Amino acid sequence: PAPGWTAATDVVVVGSGVAGLTTALRLRAAGLKVLVVTKAMLDDGSTRWAQGGIAAALGEGDTPEQHLADTLVAGAGLCDEEAVRILVTEGPAAVRRLIATGAAFDQDAEGEILLTREGGHHRRRIAHAGGDATGAEISRALVEAIRADDGVELIEHALVLDLLTDAEGRTAGLTLHVMGEGQRDGVGAVHARAVVLATGGMGQVFSATTNPPVSTGDGVALALRAGAEVTDLEFVQFHPTVLWLGPDAEGQQPLISEAVRGEGAHLVDADGVRFMVGRHELAELAPRDIVAKGIMRRMAETGAEHMYLDGRHFGAAMWEERFPTILASCRSHGIDPVTEPIPVAPAAHYASGGVRTDQHGHTSVSGLYACGEVACTGVHGANRLASNSLLEGLVFAERIAADILDRDAAGKLTPRHEPHPSPSTPDREVRRVPLLASEARADIQRLMSRGVGVLRSAASMAEAVGGLAALAADHPGTGRLNSTGKGESPQVETWEATNLHLVATALAAAALLREETRGCHWREDFPDRDDVRWNTHLISRQHDGVL
Ligand code: SIN
Repeated sequence: PAPGWTAATDVVVVGSGVAGLTTALRLRAAGLKVLVVTKAMLDDGSTRWAQGGIAAALGEGDTPEQHLADTLVAGAGLCDEEAVRILVTEGPAAVRRLIATGAAFDQDAEGEILLTREGGHHRRRIAHAGGDATGAEISRALVEAIRADDGVELIEHALVLDLLTDAEGRTAGLTLHVMGEGQRDGVGAVHARAVVLATGGMGQVFSATTNPPVSTGDGVALALRAGAEVTDLEFVQFHPTVLWLGPDAEGQQPLISEAVRGEGAHLVDADGVRFMVGRHELAELAPRDIVAKGIMRRMAETGAEHMYLDGRHFGAAMWEERFPTILASCRSHGIDPVTEPIPVAPAAHYASGGVRTDQHGHTSVSGLYACGEVACTGVHGANRLASNSLLEGLVFAERIAADILDRDAAGKLTPRHEPHPSPSTPDREVRRVPLLASEARADIQRLMSRGVGVLRSAASMAEAVGGLAALAADHPGTGRLNSTGKGESPQVETWEATNLHLVATALAAAALLREETRGCHWREDFPDRDDVRWNTHLISRQHDGVL
């Protein structure tokens, strides 16, 4: 095959959300060579879609200790308390640095940041921008800062394939499939001294999700193929209030932010009954898993396909000023929240687990870091507290950048390989992996939504596990990892289906193993939390292609 392209840099950052771009900016400020790779355009990831905001103890009377307490309660016994302490104590300053980078948060007349409430928070501590367009503003500010720095190299439309390692098993770069970028078209290799995965989540593993189409678990799949540890995959958060567009709606669905409930909207059934009242002291603002379960229970009790979120009492002016994105999105689907309740149901939203890291973002593979939704730093436990995810991306990006810089100064970063005409040669041997056809994507999503969705049981999950295995058997194609052959490289959709299949298989296996209900993992056959057997984490790892 024709040789592919190669490039070299100090650090490759994969992903362009808050985690990836913050890491890249901090590394650049210290003079390291940085290459940012992203699968679509710079602002196409999940960050841009975040509505509610970013949580931090910024308000009068609030403290990191109180933020810590709320985070630990939501995490249902599985948070790493030290990691949470880092998050909540370093959070406020990290938000201020984000503001200094150019992100404009909503303020009152005195210039104080306006704060709202969301589920599980006992205080107003969610900073927001543009009313309900917080992620879009953060993304705008970071993308602008990145584009203003000529020293940051960018490759858009590039799907990350596989980690390259040296003879000692240390990270030496990665392979990419680039689509239509001139010189660097097709599969190529980037040699680097460290790789930061900031690839976001895996919501596309399910049929209905708030995640954009690019969220196909590529980072977790790469980490698994590289032999890294992943953990807590069973804790998929289902957002309680996603606009219900019919029983067959598939793909990315419009989010109705928790901030709408934070500002006083009510969850009601078809008869207008506020069914969360009496189920939890915080009613509609209980932690997310409790509200999602409350909705599912009420749906089962009443035989309804969805519930309603009623914010008619806000009035038109408040909807327009405070929630312009949600208002426009609802109206584009023929629903007017000013005059009618919004039909809502839970949908997959956030992966609380991911690639296992320590407090500096190190994974179990030397030189490979993970940050943001792709990572599992331990701050979310069994259920992420609302609006802690942007904060996690911000805080841990800064810690990763600091760690890389410290290592560089101490001469401890892996020496860089020079570009080589055949990038697979100095690194590990070319491997072949099973590849799924792109059409498998919809099958994977249906199997996962049916078997491993909000409500799970051994029987439903066994069906999903069996279906996933059968899909792999039905698509016995193989592809070369680390190959630079342009002509023979499979298409991006094929890699995405393959990645979805791998992460779905790992997720379903973990969910089947955990025989209890905890946080956002809800087992119908084991309805109680079991602290005797299960106050622990499940860690998965792939060895020789076997999970
Ligand atoms: C929301 O606005 O409800 C989403 C916030 C989050 O997922 O943290």
